[in-house]
Amino acid sequence: MRRIASRAGRARRDFLKLAGGGMAALSLPGAAAHASGSRVRSLKAAPAQAPIGAPQYSPARVWAYNGSVPGPVLRVRQGDTVRVQFQNWLPQPSTLHWHGIRIRNDMDGVAGLTQPAVPPGEIFDYSFTVPDAGTFWYHPHNRTWEQLARGLYGALIVEERNPPEVDRDLVLMFDDWRLDKDGQIHDASFGSLMDWAHAGRLGNWLTVNGRSEPEIAVTKGERLRLRLINACNARVLSLGFADHLPLLVALDGQPIPPRPAEHGVITLAPAQRADVIVDMEQDPGSRSPIKDVSQRKQINAMHFVYDADQVKREAPLASSVRLPGNPLPRRLDLAGALNADLVMEGGAMGRMSYATFEGKRLSMRELAEKRMVWALNGIVGRTSTPLIEAPRGRTVTMKMVNATSWPHAMHLHGHHFRVIERDGKPVPHGPWRDTVLLRRGENLRVAFVADNPGKWLLHCHMVEHQASGMSTWIRVKG
Ligand code: C2O
Ligand code: CU
Repeated sequence: MRRIASRAGRARRDFLKLAGGGMAALSLPGAAAHASGSRVRSLKAAPAQAPIGAPQYSPARVWAYNGSVPGPVLRVRQGDTVRVQFQNWLPQPSTLHWHGIRIRNDMDGVAGLTQPAVPPGEIFDYSFTVPDAGTFWYHPHNRTWEQLARGLYGALIVEERNPPEVDRDLVLMFDDWRLDKDGQIHDASFGSLMDWAHAGRLGNWLTVNGRSEPEIAVTKGERLRLRLINACNARVLSLGFADHLPLLVALDGQPIPPRPAEHGVITLAPAQRADVIVDMEQDPGSRSPIKDVSQRKQINAMHFVYDADQVKREAPLASSVRLPGNPLPRRLDLAGALNADLVMEGGAMGRMSYATFEGKRLSMRELAEKRMVWALNGIVGRTSTPLIEAPRGRTVTMKMVNATSWPHAMHLHGHHFRVIERDGKPVPHGPWRDTVLLRRGENLRVAFVADNPGKWLLHCHMVEHQASGMSTWIRVKG
């Protein structure tokens, strides 16, 4: 077992100084790393430039993995051991978190909970196996509200041993950026209390795979598997497929019985993923968008552009696209479960007048001065004791009550859970998820088997809310 050296006698076994130490420019490989199995690869987080904005602007100064936004797509096989050397060339400490992977705890990358943040100029070696096939992603877990918004994210794709038959498998990472009038990241608003107490940092510029309205060339008759990932800090996307009908086959990396998306629209809260199968059935030469239809003013995200003369096949493939199941612990023992409540409070237009922060009971005004304005069960931010301590293998249910005026995307690390009740009514056969959206005033009961030992964060993935108090953790013993 690799252990993180303790603060006291830190042996520098895990943090190695980068050669040269400084923030020198790196020579950077392209974006499409395809790597297999246990080959070691590195992710270098560093300042870079990326053409995310409109063509009239110079490239934006971003922070990126290996020089590209998104970072390289890491593709591995189910059951593989992934080894990534993380190099921090940023001006501040960082980590890598592997979102949605049922990972061993010491590789989860949560600064201050599972490891110390990796200082600038140092290295951390991540190594873990991937039990589930599916669509996952990686991002920093230190000052995520800034580092994610500056462009630090990438996809981690775990391929099935027997994938369904498709012509192409594409990753589409959606992000909304807040750009200033020169097409640069709006710096002045980082940490704005206005954002933190409201919806979070919402952008004004939408990209897919780091480009504004990219075009994907397709051929009539092709079958695509699209892996949709919401990498926004705080925006809930509703992706409308216009002329195409996406068939949902997985959510948050976990297979579901295939079903057409309702009205052709897929809602993704921050950090959520959906795998869809889309048959390209429009006429050669046609053009069709995917839009964010969450606002009255719909925004084009990208376009499918059909080849003018080629036809791949006249009728869509008939084969089934049901994904093989993952080895999740599915047997929920609700009768013997450990039950907890999670009351979410605070934010603007809320009713919270007091909450406890760092052991002190503070008024909302005092909390606002500290920019800590959200509470879980009356407590602001992570405490030294966990919300729940569960023996390994125990079923846990948690009733999440959104007593705020805002939506929240609650994410549990190291496990997938199922929604079993919504607003007091049973939900049969809910999908397994790692992130769930609670609309304002909504309440949900989720259930999972606490089978992964360690300290696991539970937080809102609207990352400004997380930073501003909406974060706790659970401990699984064993
Ligand atoms: Cu995607 Cu706690 O993170
Ligand atoms: Cu939230």
